[in-house]
Amino acid sequence: MKVLVAGGAGYIGSHICVELLQANHEVIVIDDFSNSKPEVLGYIKDITGKDVKFYEKKTEQVFIENEIDAVIHCAAFKAVGESVEKPIEYYTNNLTTTLIVAKMMKKYHVNNIVFSSSATVYGDPEVVPLTEDCKLGETTNPYGASKAMMERILTDVQHACPDMSVTLLRYFNPIGAHESGLLGEDPKGIPNNLMPYIMKVAAGELPCLGVFGDDYDTPDGTGVRDYIHVVDLAKGHVLAIEKYNKPGLHICNLGTGRGYSVLELVHAFERVNGVKVKYEIKPRRAGDIATCYADPTRAKEELGWVATRGIDEMCRDTWNFAKTRMK
Ligand code: WQD
Repeated sequence: MKVLVAGGAGYIGSHICVELLQANHEVIVIDDFSNSKPEVLGYIKDITGKDVKFYEKKTEQVFIENEIDAVIHCAAFKAVGESVEKPIEYYTNNLTTTLIVAKMMKKYHVNNIVFSSSATVYGDPEVVPLTEDCKLGETTNPYGASKAMMERILTDVQHACPDMSVTLLRYFNPIGAHESGLLGEDPKGIPNNLMPYIMKVAAGELPCLGVFGDDYDTPDGTGVRDYIHVVDLAKGHVLAIEKYNKPGLHICNLGTGRGYSVLELVHAFERVNGVKVKYEIKPRRAGDIATCYADPTRAKEELGWVATRGIDEMCRDTWNFAKTRMK
């Protein structure tokens, strides 16, 4: 298939491009580099030996010049803290991007879209593991709210255009990097998310990790999340564009079904990589929940997808990426 990846130079998008190319799909990337770097496109070629066709905005031109079969939409701002400071920018960017993609798809008769959604749409879970049938919860920040709204927009578009295939992939906590060390997550400034923070402390770029709360109702008191290797996540997208390529609204969790606490992840990172990650316990972070992990049964049944990379690979590949990037 000829697949447009919106946000294809980003952390998740770039891994998706690699998996698509390795599965012999043609890839077109659109990205404004607002949170990514042009070098990434070269790294994708280094890994796969294949080129992607690239556009830096001009969305309509992409649709005019290419007979696109499917769109993977992972172009969005995603920093929770920043979204609280800049709600207008977050809503404007995330919603208009989605509306433009949907409008172009309608105009140029492209009927298959896979959307990067997030487990954040479940809010504070009533039960875990979370199945796709769990009630959607209240989001606690503009980033999360924008994801819920993007899901809603695409759901309404599918209802209005019943021939379309709309797939909402709800990611749990993507971490890790490509095993080549060329692609990974390298946020500018102080990271919001746990794994990039651990990486920067281990690399000596930040002095100490703050662990946000040790009094949650979890085995060691720290927050529990379902960490998923970004390459497993990317493979899920390839299966989704292929297997959900039939009219309807398809909703699917992508997670491992296993939760790890903050301290378990810290200690796994130290053990696997033979490094020290200094940490101290801090107060809880506003809006955080105790425990969140997926029921990944649907992904297995409908896509034939299971996560195959465990916590050790996630830690190993993150550190390998950090070392490559420091060279
Ligand atoms: C994980 C755990 C923290 C940082 C958020 C978004 C979600 C998704 C991923 C992405 C929690 C703890 C973290 C730190 C810590 N969106 N922590 N010290 O909160 O599960 O999900 O990011 O683009 O939509 O809501 O992920 O990595 O921020 O936190 O102790 O410096 O690590 O309290 O228990 P989260 P996270």
